[in-house]
Amino acid sequence: MSIEILFLVSLLAVLTYAQETGFVYNGFRSANLSLDGIAEITSNGLLKLNNDTNQQKGHAFHPYPVQFKNLPNGSIKSFSTTFVFAIQPPYASMRGSGFAFVVAPQSGLHGSLPGRYLGMFNETNNGNFSNHVFGVELDTFLSFEFQDINDNHIGIDLNGLTSVMSAPAGYYQDNGEFNNLSLISGQAMQVWVDYDGTDKLIKITLAPTNVKKPKIPLLYLIQDLSPIINENMYVGFSSSTNWLLTSHYVLGWSFSVNGEAQALALSRLPKLSQIRKKETSEVLTIGLPLMVLFVVLMLILSVVYVIRRKRKLAEVLEDWEREYGPHRFKYRDLYTATKGFRDQELLGTGGFGQVYRGILPTSNIEIAVKRVSHASGQGMREFVAEIISIGRLRHRNLVALLGYCRRKREMLLVYDYMPNGSLDKYLYNQPKVTLNWMQRLRVIKGVASGLLYLHEGWEQVVIHRDIKASNILLDAEFNGRLGDFGLARLHDHGTDPQTTHVVGTFGYLAPEHMRTGKATTSTDVFAFGVFLLEVACGRRPIKQGDMEDVILVDWVFSCWDRGDILEASDPKLRAEFVEEEMEFVLKLGLMCSHPSPSMRPSMRQVLQYLEGDLPMPELSYAGISSSALTFTHPEGFDALAMSCPSSTGQAFTHLYSAAESLLSGGR
Ligand SMILES: *[C@@H]1O[C@H](CO)[C@@H](O)[C@H](O)[C@H]1NC(C)=O
Ligand SMILES: *[C@@H]1O[C@H](CO)[C@@H](O)[C@H](O)[C@H]1NC(C)=O
Ligand SMILES: *[C@@H]1O[C@H](CO)[C@@H](O)[C@H](O)[C@H]1NC(C)=O
Ligand SMILES: *[C@@H]1O[C@H](CO)[C@@H](O)[C@H](O)[C@H]1NC(C)=O
Ligand SMILES: *[C@@H]1O[C@H](CO)[C@@H](O)[C@H](O)[C@H]1NC(C)=O
Ligand SMILES: *[C@@H]1O[C@H](CO)[C@@H](O)[C@H](O)[C@H]1NC(C)=O
Repeated sequence: MSIEILFLVSLLAVLTYAQETGFVYNGFRSANLSLDGIAEITSNGLLKLNNDTNQQKGHAFHPYPVQFKNLPNGSIKSFSTTFVFAIQPPYASMRGSGFAFVVAPQSGLHGSLPGRYLGMFNETNNGNFSNHVFGVELDTFLSFEFQDINDNHIGIDLNGLTSVMSAPAGYYQDNGEFNNLSLISGQAMQVWVDYDGTDKLIKITLAPTNVKKPKIPLLYLIQDLSPIINENMYVGFSSSTNWLLTSHYVLGWSFSVNGEAQALALSRLPKLSQIRKKETSEVLTIGLPLMVLFVVLMLILSVVYVIRRKRKLAEVLEDWEREYGPHRFKYRDLYTATKGFRDQELLGTGGFGQVYRGILPTSNIEIAVKRVSHASGQGMREFVAEIISIGRLRHRNLVALLGYCRRKREMLLVYDYMPNGSLDKYLYNQPKVTLNWMQRLRVIKGVASGLLYLHEGWEQVVIHRDIKASNILLDAEFNGRLGDFGLARLHDHGTDPQTTHVVGTFGYLAPEHMRTGKATTSTDVFAFGVFLLEVACGRRPIKQGDMEDVILVDWVFSCWDRGDILEASDPKLRAEFVEEEMEFVLKLGLMCSHPSPSMRPSMRQVLQYLEGDLPMPELSYAGISSSALTFTHPEGFDALAMSCPSSTGQAFTHLYSAAESLLSGGR
């Protein structure tokens, strides 16, 4: 039905029947009620007695007084009223206070209280016969104060809230059977109030809107209302809210004096459907907002996560880096390859950073990613340039440096992955698998040829600076490959290497390197010599003893001095080696680790000796005492960067003993 027709019909109904004898409202769209408090008329014509403000009252009265008495004997006329209402609680089982149909001396009950007083009375006037208020309460709250029978009843109130008579909500079928009704069901229900002025009989009847007016009323009370109802009275509704917000709606209302109230046109009443809550609404009213909140939260979190991840993985590329094109890896790729630098992918931790295993996303190539923290920002450009140069080195005994990635001060170096790990695993600490002599010789030859390539075979001289067993990696065929160019330095052929602060690992540092701070090919040869002894003896270059540390070079030297160099051979080999070869390697190791750089062979010579192309000269330490072999403690070098031979703990011990010897040497 269109709004206009509804309007006309309502207007017509009001006009034709709106004399003092009665009125009918089939919806309140065009009604001229006097409202106060929180009562309002909704846009679709419902009389809403209360809104969502708690502890408030709402009143709606017919604007003109009704004449109840004009009879000479002073008794009041019969009257009849009917209305359709609905009570909607916020949640199915929660009950606010109810509302009442009232006949009162003024429209609006001044001074009345909300909550359990239903907007009708207050503490002082409740029950006082001077009130002149007749009410029919639809009570949904159990107030012991007013002797309520339950929280779902209808009661007749005369001047006070303690009902004269009340009954649980429900209706009788014509056969006398009683049906319970729940006032807060949200369903529309109809109430009839009939007063017979002759018999002084009040009848209250309740029924759902789909049930005809029951013949048997719910409440039936003989009571003369003449002392209560004055000659001219206002009729209307009084409602209130407590802290539980319950909505009270009146859909239609009809009233008549001296005759039965005109029946309401139920089909024309405004619809509750758009605001009626279904039984499942409890889930929806609580659940839905929570779900929406949850979803929104999840969305926000995932957006934050995506942004943070994006920012985290974003490339920080400087102009000068663009020329390195293919050598520069994307951080995102390395992050994915190493599964976010997960601990499970950690291959090892060295003095210069952690090494992770990874698989490149697109090519599926296995790589090892080394994270180096590079403290100074300025040297970065030169550092990267060197990395790139080194990246161009290609030799089958070098671990190929595939490229790099730079992030702020963090440097990621990407190497070929070496499935068999580093050599030191097979030499010390009671290894599960050790290498036999043949394999060791092959590794030695491989490393020698790799080092020769670095020193002489390339356009520039490359000083490795950190040759040691833990930097020798084994490929799938157990070929030794020189890895870890984190410390490597380049200089042009025929020029002098720059003096830098001393880097390397204790036990592998040539004496003159410590003195001058200059790394040369010769200092690499020294470290290579120590490495040879390591492989042949299966011992660390510095072994911590009870009294003092045993220096491997000194110890082998003393064995040789005693004429029993084979005593130094690795017991794990169980004498399964060619004695001449073992002796040869040990002597070559001593020769390379000679304290005087001029006495050391070049890598070219070393390789020739190893290949048997050149006979090795007799080892001669003429004029050098065993003690002179010990690391002479240099004076006046300031910075000493070290990588640790195996574990950090040991590195500290070495550092500590170095500092100690520095102090004692200074005195
Ligand atoms: C309730 O109605 C009163 C009176 O009309 C009004 O002042 C108040 O803002 C309303 N509250 C809500 C929540 O609608
Ligand atoms: C509405 O009611 C008020 C009294 O509450 C009255 O003054 C006014 O004239 C009425 N308006 C109409 C259109 O009936
Ligand atoms: C109670 O209501 C009456 C009018 O109905 C009023 O005169 C009186 O002041 C009210 N009392 C309080 C305490 O509000
Ligand atoms: C009832 O109210 C009247 C006037 O408001 C007052 O004079 C009277 O004392 C009250 N009676 C009781 C019992 O409170
Ligand atoms: C009606 O409600 C009363 C209590 O309010 C209960 O004892 C009775 O069993 C109910 N009857 C039906 C048919 O639900
Ligand atoms: C008062 O008069 C009316 C109409 O004459 C009558 O119906 C009613 O019974 C009378 N009431 C009393 C109490 O006499």
